[in-house]
Amino acid sequence: MDKSHPIVISLGGSLVVPNGGIDTRFLKEFNMFIRQKIARGWRFFIVVGGGATARHYIDSAREIVGQISDWDLDFLGIHSTHLNAHMIRTIFRDVAHPRVIMNYQKKIVNLQEPLVIAAGWKPGCSTDYDAMLLVRDYGANALINMSNIDSVYDKDPKKFPEALPVKKISWREFEKMITGKWSPGFSSPFDPVATKLAIQLDCSVYVIGKNLDNLGKLLEGKDFEGTLIASE
Ligand code: UTP
Repeated sequence: MDKSHPIVISLGGSLVVPNGGIDTRFLKEFNMFIRQKIARGWRFFIVVGGGATARHYIDSAREIVGQISDWDLDFLGIHSTHLNAHMIRTIFRDVAHPRVIMNYQKKIVNLQEPLVIAAGWKPGCSTDYDAMLLVRDYGANALINMSNIDSVYDKDPKKFPEALPVKKISWREFEKMITGKWSPGFSSPFDPVATKLAIQLDCSVYVIGKNLDNLGKLLEGKDFEGTLIASE
């Protein structure tokens, strides 16, 4: 990938807080990885998701309140992303821009730092959409989506155990696969609202899992495990 443009990573909250607590081991490795890359001239925007924290709050509120609006549930998710993003910002305190992006209308002018951390903004989407807004606003060429989903599959692997990972898929085909209505806590390799913006911007998205050697291969333009979603 081209170092002269920033790389936007949508870091699934499932990697920061999987079910059962903060993944300290992953975060230690991620810390070292990003610092090494920064030392070699890469610049990153990292948008952090809500993970199990978001899902726990959303599920509990649904159970306790019963009738609850998607708006209220999305805000529980958004606040979870803020907490996780502050964790990442704390880890990178000495190298990251001091402000975590939470309002995407306020563009950072004269950005000096090689790293910016961002979190959720408005109800009705996931941090994948927020990451795509950063691609649009900060001249990135592509978006890397890291989560506990390591690839796009030819069918839903939760329903069809024989589903196979695909190396490359067009946005047209991908959009057909994820025709779900938005709902708080929605999980898919890339969110449907963000997909629409990616198509408008003609932006490629790389869907990969949590393996950092694999992320390294992708950055270096080598063969990687995961899926490229792109126009035809
Ligand atoms: P994400 O869906 O982005 O985090 O936000 P995640 O689930 O941890 O990411 P993955 O699946 O691992 O990639 C959690 C929830 O926060 C709300 C939504 O309800 C979303 O499902 N949210 C997040 C918003 O409403 N708006 C935002 O801008 C971001």
